[in-house]
This record gives sequence, structure tokens and C-alpha cells, in this order.
Amino acid sequence: MKKRLLQRSLTAILSIALSTTVFSEEESSHTKENYDILGLGSAFIDYILKVNDEELEEMKYDKGTWGPIEYSSLKSILKKKDTNLINTTGGGSSANVIKGLAKLGQKCAVLGQIGSDEQGSFYLKSLKNIEITPFLHQGSLPTGQALCFVTPDGQHTMRTYLGASHNNDDIKINPNIFNNIKLFHLEGYQLQNPKLFKEAIELAKKQGAKITLDLSSTGIVKTYKDDLLNILPKYVDIIFANEAEAFELTHLYPQEACDFLATFCDVAVVTMGDRGSWVKSGTIKFYTPAVDVKCIDTTGTGDLFAAGFLHGYLNNENLQKCAWIGTFVASKVVQQYGSEVSNELWKEIYAGLDEDKSQEITHNKK
Ligand SMILES: Nc1ncnc2c1ncn2[C@@H]1O[C@H](COP(=O)(O)OP(=O)(O)OP(=O)(O)O)[C@@H](O)[C@H]1O
Ligand SMILES: [Mg+2]
Repeated sequence: MKKRLLQRSLTAILSIALSTTVFSEEESSHTKENYDILGLGSAFIDYILKVNDEELEEMKYDKGTWGPIEYSSLKSILKKKDTNLINTTGGGSSANVIKGLAKLGQKCAVLGQIGSDEQGSFYLKSLKNIEITPFLHQGSLPTGQALCFVTPDGQHTMRTYLGASHNNDDIKINPNIFNNIKLFHLEGYQLQNPKLFKEAIELAKKQGAKITLDLSSTGIVKTYKDDLLNILPKYVDIIFANEAEAFELTHLYPQEACDFLATFCDVAVVTMGDRGSWVKSGTIKFYTPAVDVKCIDTTGTGDLFAAGFLHGYLNNENLQKCAWIGTFVASKVVQQYGSEVSNELWKEIYAGLDEDKSQEITHNKK
């Protein structure tokens, strides 16, 4: 009898130990009330580096591009004495959106993969600090890390070491983490993990959650065009694309691209940097100008726009108001370095949202 009891407890201990190696402790203690929004993305540490045009040229990086970098090269750039490192934050497109939503008062969770290193712990902390439930799996590679080179004109050039984030297809999803979510946000980069993408999107659909997708990059759109044309009408409720991504997918300029994307999704949003954005949903179509501000760094602009827009959407605001909130939040993140909005700017955002200048801005039609 005693022996059987001992065996049972050993089995229990073993299964707990096994489950914690796959899922974070939050996942096992997850209660349905913890969050309404789940985001899936590649987990990255973002290093924001200030460079001038000559330095960028010396490194042979074309301005505004994204590309891979070896782990050793990334480390050696960071170690250089004259490296102008402005800040280090937990990033990745989906996580930026989720972090924005959390700061706006939504209850959120993030699903992704980190390494078992100090960067992974930093990333986990960056989510926990703002009460995001982390479902972070630990991969065998180092945590993904991105160098964001910001030039004086505010443009950013990215070089990324994918690391653990590249193996998201290895993630074994616990279906329970999708229980009762209202919204599931994905970045286009996850199309590179087709197994995970399909499984996650099906689970979200089963829950009746709204599914929102940011196309992420023209490279992704080019590679996964056929997949996207299948996925969009079947699953996606709200699509976010910048004008280059929208063009890559539709071969149309923003306004017409937005019309076209809205034949697939309930809501289509096409953003055009400092030239504002188009939104189309059924018979509703409108333009929202960007706020005229001094741009320091565009890192995370699209992500914070999406966060603001979705915050409005979750609060049942009309689409004009959603676009205004997105525009307003995005206009703050461009005024600083990096995608993590400072507390000072969040204060300005909260005050601006209370004031609600949405009528003034959206009436200013192009
Ligand atoms: N320089 C700027 N000044 C003010 N607002 C801006 C500026 N750039 C972008 N925005 C706002 O942010 C929105 C999204 O910007 P953008 O089209 O550049 O997204 P994106 O290309 O996805 O950005 P990201 O570089 O994060 O991928 C715009 O529609 C606009 O409202
Ligand atoms: Mg974008």
C-alpha cells in the first residue's frame, strides 16, 4: 500500500517536473479570468543603437532593410566600445502589440519561445512587469535578439539573430491557454512556423475569438502569398498591413489595396507612415491623417498603431475612433527611441485618450 502511494507521488512529481520544462508555471496555473487577449510571436530582445549614415554604410547595411545576423557578429557589435546603445527592451512585433494593449488596460498573454539565458529571463521579466501572462517555452538556442540601427532621419535598419524564436514550430501548445480568449493576435512572421500557425489559429477560431494579423514584412508576404490568400478569408477578422506589404500582396496602392483586403477580412487597415492610414470595413471607408510630430525613431510604430486600434475595438468603439487611438498612440512612439513607450509618454497617452480629439482628426478627410 505504502509502496503504491510512494509510486503515485513519484509519478505526480515527475509529471509536474516534465510539464514545467515545456510550459511556464503560469500556464499550469492559468485560470480563465487571467486574460482576454493572446498574442503569438517571435520573442526578441531589441537593442536600439544610434548610428549615422556613414556608420551604416561601413557595415554595408542598406537603410531601412531587415536581415539576419550571426550570433557572434551581433555580440561583437554590442561589445564595441564606441557602440551607441540607447536602450534594451523585450520586443518582437506581436509582443509589442500586446505590451501596448496591456499598458492601455487590457488583460493579455503572450505565447512564444526564449532561450535559457539571461536575455530570456530579461524578456520574461519585461512581460511580467506589466502583468502580461507569459507562456514562454524554453528552447535550446539563445534568445532571439535584434539590433535596431536608428539613423538621424528616424529610420531603422534591423539585423536579427533568430535564435530560439526561430523554432516556434517546436512549441507544444496547451489548448487550454486559448480558453475564453476574445482576441488572438498574430504576426506574419509566424507563417514560417506552419504547424504552430495552423494549430493556434484553429484553436482561436474554435473559441470564437477575433483573429487579427499584422503582415509584418514584404519578404514574408512575397514568400507566403498563396498561404495568405487562403488564410485571410477563412480566419482573419482584422488585417494590418503597411503600404509596402499591401502592395506586395495586392499590387495596388494603399486605398485600393485596402478595398481589396476588405473583401477578405471584416476590417482592413493599410498604414502609410507619416501619411496616415486607410480603413475599410463593409461599406465604411475612411482616411486618418498621421499626427504631425517630430519623428526620432520609427521602431514599433506599426505595432503601437495596432495596439491602439485594437484597444478601441475591444472597447466597442467605432472604427474611426479605433483608427484615431492607433494614430495617437503611434504618434507618441515615434517621438522616442525604441518600441517600448516611456512612462512619461504613456501619461500623455492616457491624458490624450481622456480628452478624446478623435472627432477633430477623423473629420479632416484627405
Ligand atoms: N513619422 C510619423 N509621425 C507620426 N505618426 C506616424 C509616423 N510614422 C507612422 N505614424 C503612424 O503610425 C501608423 C503606422 O505607421 P507605418 O505605416 O510606418 O507602420 P509600419 O510600417 O508597420 O511600421 P513598423 O516600422 O513598425 O513596421 C501610421 O499610419 C501613422 O498613423
Ligand atoms: Mg509593421
